[in-house]
Amino acid sequence: ADVFTFDPGFTSTAACESAITYIDGDKGELLHRGYSIEELAEHSHYLEVCYLLLYGELPTAAQLADFETRVTRHTMVHEQMHYFFRGFRRDAHPMATMVGVVGAMAAFYHDSTDINDPWQREVAAIRMIAKLPTIAAMAYKYSVGQPFVYPKNSLDYAGNFLHMCFAIPAEEYVVNPILAKAMDRIMMLHADHEQNASTSTVRLAGSSGANPFACIAAGIACLWGPAHGGANQACLEMLKEIGTVDRIPEYVAKAKDKDSGFRLMGFGHRVYKNFDPRATVMKQSADEVLALLGVENNPLLQVAKELERIALSDEYFISKKLYPNVDFYSGIILEAMGFPTSMFTPIFAISRTVGWISQWKEMIADKGQKIGRPRQLYIGEPHRAYVDVRNR
Ligand code: CMC
Repeated sequence: ADVFTFDPGFTSTAACESAITYIDGDKGELLHRGYSIEELAEHSHYLEVCYLLLYGELPTAAQLADFETRVTRHTMVHEQMHYFFRGFRRDAHPMATMVGVVGAMAAFYHDSTDINDPWQREVAAIRMIAKLPTIAAMAYKYSVGQPFVYPKNSLDYAGNFLHMCFAIPAEEYVVNPILAKAMDRIMMLHADHEQNASTSTVRLAGSSGANPFACIAAGIACLWGPAHGGANQACLEMLKEIGTVDRIPEYVAKAKDKDSGFRLMGFGHRVYKNFDPRATVMKQSADEVLALLGVENNPLLQVAKELERIALSDEYFISKKLYPNVDFYSGIILEAMGFPTSMFTPIFAISRTVGWISQWKEMIADKGQKIGRPRQLYIGEPHRAYVDVRNR
């Protein structure tokens, strides 16, 4: 019989070679194409990081301008998409809507199915990066019963997303530059994270040669779960449920009790066993944004800070190396911006699209890559004879 390595959850299996993102979990290090996330967060911006992830190098000024023009040119979705949205219930979770709408893009961009054509791959990547914010904003507008707002291409990527979410056609809307910068930073910090569950899903779906829009829809579905991208929504809902600082010990005790089935959302990571470098930047960003908005006394932030302090000095969390992850802080910023919690994971999906599509492109270009096909250890019945229904 064949002999397999048994590795449920792929804790020690490398499924591909990749030159995009490097993580050293013990050191708390995250590099994109060799550049540290801290340096990128300080000096770069989202679309430049997109270019870096997609093409491997930081762009020259001319390359960046050209890339921004190409992305901007694709921000609108096909007008017929509006009908597609109308088929959903208004109270649908925007992630459910996004899985459907992004999957449906495969029907609008059928040419992208020709994945052997490098030009088709390129245009699919640009379309995806350009249209995801539009689709997420439309899902939001639909859920609150407001008219869709078309993209405004004079704004930058993050500012345009805020505009499409918060502008109301009847009123003048001016994007707050502090919020646009904070949104850009959230997007940058989520842009890629090597072979996480949703990226592996995109690669697995793509390994069969499927249409790239369908592959990204698979990634969005995987991201939705609370152990992955859904943690940002779950974390903020947990902070709201805790409500006041005096109730924190109760929740910490519950998280330590295995039988409770409860985990502190926003804590722990499969790879980072020291700290999550994205969380450090995000925490700083949360402090800055709330101070600039004059809401630093936000009770949620007080609960978050105290929860962090208590958990980090608790033996259970120390011994298991459970630290706040990126999603512990991102939700506080998004809440301050006025987003409902249901929009947190769609914002993660927008941000991660460049990671998914960069990894998909890398995989398709890798001629040594085979279809992803794990094996199993069979633990069911051995061969047995069929018994007629009258004799069972
Ligand atoms: N609260 C309490 N206990 C925890 C937590 C937590 N948040 N996370 C892990 N543990 C315990 C777990 O019970 C286990 O204990 P034991 O060894 O006694 O059985 C130990 O720590 C290791 O946990 P694991 O589930 O085996 O670790 P994993 O690598 O499979 O899971 C994780 C990683 C992120 C899914 C997990 O830590 C978790 O569920 N965290 C909460 C959800 C969350 O914040 N997810 C966002 C991750 S960062 C954003 C992203 O990249 O998607």
